[in-house]
Amino acid sequence: MTLQNKNILLVIGGGIAAYKCLDLIRRLRERGAGVRVIMTAAAGEFVTPLSVSALTGEPAFSDLFNLTDEARIGHIELARAADLVIVAPATADLMAKVANGLAGDLATTALLATTAPVLIAPAMNVRMWEAVTTQRNLAQLGQDGKILVGPNSGDMACGEFGPGRMSEPMEIIAAAEDILAPKETPLAGHKVLVTAGPTHEPVDPVRYLANRSSGKQGYAIASACAALGAETVLVSGPTNLGDPKGLKTVRVETAVEMLAACETELPADIAICAAAVADWRVDGLANQKIKKKNGGVPGLKLIENPDICKTISHHAKRPALVVGFAAETENLIDYAKAKRAKKGCDWIIANDVSPETGIMGGDNNSVYVITPDSEETWPSMAKSAVAGQLAQKIAEHFKGMQ
Ligand SMILES: Cc1cc2nc3c(=O)[nH]c(=O)nc-3n(C[C@H](O)[C@H](O)[C@H](O)COP(=O)(O)O)c2cc1C
Repeated sequence: MTLQNKNILLVIGGGIAAYKCLDLIRRLRERGAGVRVIMTAAAGEFVTPLSVSALTGEPAFSDLFNLTDEARIGHIELARAADLVIVAPATADLMAKVANGLAGDLATTALLATTAPVLIAPAMNVRMWEAVTTQRNLAQLGQDGKILVGPNSGDMACGEFGPGRMSEPMEIIAAAEDILAPKETPLAGHKVLVTAGPTHEPVDPVRYLANRSSGKQGYAIASACAALGAETVLVSGPTNLGDPKGLKTVRVETAVEMLAACETELPADIAICAAAVADWRVDGLANQKIKKKNGGVPGLKLIENPDICKTISHHAKRPALVVGFAAETENLIDYAKAKRAKKGCDWIIANDVSPETGIMGGDNNSVYVITPDSEETWPSMAKSAVAGQLAQKIAEHFKGMQ
C-alpha cells in the first residue's frame, strides 16, 4: 500500500527499454499511484504519447514551451507535485544532463526543479555504461542524492552482453516502495556527534601537513545516523564532499579547531570519531612563507595535537557511547585493541589503510568492530553500507539499554 495515493512523475528517456515503461505505468497505477509522464523528444521515437496517456489518463508531457495549460500544470508544478520522480529508461544522455544541472527541455527542467527523491533506472549499451564519462556522471548523481536501481546484466538489444539492461518494472516498483515506505527512526531523541575527514596543520600561510583521508566514511556514518532519526552533527576537516542533507555540518581545519567544535556540541549521546586527526602540528607557525635557503631545509619542530577521541572519552560531558576508529597499516587488531584501552572509548572500528587496500579515499571498506564483549569481522562493502550497519548496531545497543 506504500504507493497508494502517491504522485509519481515518470520521466521516459529515449532508449529501447522505453517500451517497459508502459508496463511500469500499469503496475504503478494498480498500486493506487497517480502517474504523470514527461517524455523526452527521443522517447517519442520509441513509445507513443497516445499509449502513455491512455495508461495514465493524463496527457503525456514533453514540450517545455507548449504544455497543455502552463497555468494549471506548469513545468515547475510537474516537479513540485511529485512524491517521487522515476527516470526510466535513464539514457546516458539524460544522466549526463542531470549530473551537470542542464535544463534545456521539460524533462531536465523538472529534474532540476524537483525536491522529491529521484530514482534512476539506467538502460544503455554496455560500452556506453562502462564509459568513464557515464561512470563519472553516475558517481556525481550518487553524490547528489539520486537513487539508483539497476542496471541488470544480460543480453542486450544491440547483441552485446553485460551490464546495461534496465531493471524490470517490478524491480523499479520495489525500489520506489522502499524509498516511499515510512522509515523507522530508532535513533530519534538521540544526539550523535560524528567527526570526519583529515585535519590540515599549517606550516606557514601557504603550506600544511595533512593525510589522505577523504571523509567519505565519516560522512556516510553521519547520514546513516540522521536517516535513523538522530539529531546529527558532523564536524568535518577539509574535504571535497558537499554538506550531507538532514544534519548540521561544522567545517574546521585543524585538530585544535576540531576539538573545540566537538566540545561545543557536547552533551551528545553518541560520539563517533571517524576523522583522521593529525597526531602532530608544527610548533611556532611561521607568519610568512618559509623561504628556500641554499643548502638547508627548515627544521620543523612538531608538537602533539590533542587526542579528540580520548578527550571526549574522558570528558565531563562524556557521551554514553564513544566509538573510535583505528586506521592502521600493520598489526591491525592488536593495535586497535590497544587504542581502545588507551583512548577509553567503548567501541573501536579498525580498518587496514595500507595503500594496497584502496580503503583510504576509496568507496569500499572492510572493518573489524571491537566492543567490550565482541569482535566482529565485517565483509568488504560500500562505505555507505558500513555506515548503515554501524548506525543499526548503535540503535540496537541503545534499545538494549532501555
Ligand atoms: C535505436 C536506438 C536505441 C537507443 N537506445 C539507447 C539506450 O538504450 N540508452 C541510451 O542511453 N541511449 C540510447 N539511444 C541513444 C539516445 O536515443 C540518444 O542519446 C538520445 O539523444 C537520448 O535523448 P534523451 O536522453 O533526451 O532521451 C538509442 C538510439 C537509437 C537510435
